[in-house]
Amino acid sequence: MQRRPRRNRASRALRDLSQENQVTANDLIFPLFLLEGKNQITEVSSMPGIHRLSIEPMLKEIEECMNLGIQAFDIFPVVDESYKDKMATKSHDTSFFYHQALKRVKEEFPEALVITDVAMDPYSSDGHDGIVENGQIINDATLEVLAQMAVAQAEMGIDMVGPSDMMDGRVGYLRDALDEAGFSNVGIMSYTAKYASSFYGPFRDALDSAPKFGDKKTYQMNPANRKEALIEAELDYIEGADVLMVKPAMVYLDIISDLKANYDLPIAAYNVSGEYSMIKAAGQKGWLDADRTRDETLLSIKRAGADMILTYFAKEFMLSQRTK
Ligand code: PBG
Repeated sequence: MQRRPRRNRASRALRDLSQENQVTANDLIFPLFLLEGKNQITEVSSMPGIHRLSIEPMLKEIEECMNLGIQAFDIFPVVDESYKDKMATKSHDTSFFYHQALKRVKEEFPEALVITDVAMDPYSSDGHDGIVENGQIINDATLEVLAQMAVAQAEMGIDMVGPSDMMDGRVGYLRDALDEAGFSNVGIMSYTAKYASSFYGPFRDALDSAPKFGDKKTYQMNPANRKEALIEAELDYIEGADVLMVKPAMVYLDIISDLKANYDLPIAAYNVSGEYSMIKAAGQKGWLDADRTRDETLLSIKRAGADMILTYFAKEFMLSQRTK
């Protein structure tokens, strides 16, 4: 035998030297759930180890993460039902606790990259990402609400908006709105290929943001489709997105790989709530080694072509690296 691939696997040193991919702090974005109030901390029951935090504990959490090397955070608000309405008014009210918290975070940690979500669902009494009229999600009228939301967030000093709503034309619309408001430096991380997935369940528990009727299949993509992701990517590219995202990640590695192969923009992957919970639950039952499964999962997302990974594992992954 001339070729013996096993030779390069013979020792830890050789395995490390020939390793093609690695996950480091530079790849990670940590999603955080913000609560209103003072010193509030509640665990998300379907996401063991993940807590909703009010601003003070969140600042502490961000500081700890920064000390571990994590530089990027995506902050989602937990909005009380009493604030929700059909037009998601609170989403662009800069006196709202979410906006004030974003401002605090950027004041305390100017070097942290703060990303926000642009979609109506956490603020909408219908629980949908767009305006609902007669049971339909109205595309074009929604764009104006999204634009107001993005500009209000930008006014708080955040670095990047993440439109997760899947309305047609939103990236270009947001780009124009941000530019006109003087925020040409605020980036757009577009949820380019966001699928209508059951893996978002625990996130909707965390935010209490599940749709009040129906599902999101008229705007989020059909999990059966691969080529359609290239249509979305092309539009986002033309409309000015800075980062293209695939979501979920684990069961959409082919899509990550396709976008990486076809676009020169950085590719993000969202390792979503259900993907986190699944591994945690199996670990708790003793059915899987959750730590090794986590590491393998993050690596697979990187290997598929993601330049950055939004993951609830970010902090524990970095903590585990410390002890290695
Ligand atoms: C809001 C939004 C969702 C997620 C991120 N932004 C939920 C949804 O679209 O229903 C899911 C994230 C996760 O599951 O971790 N549009």
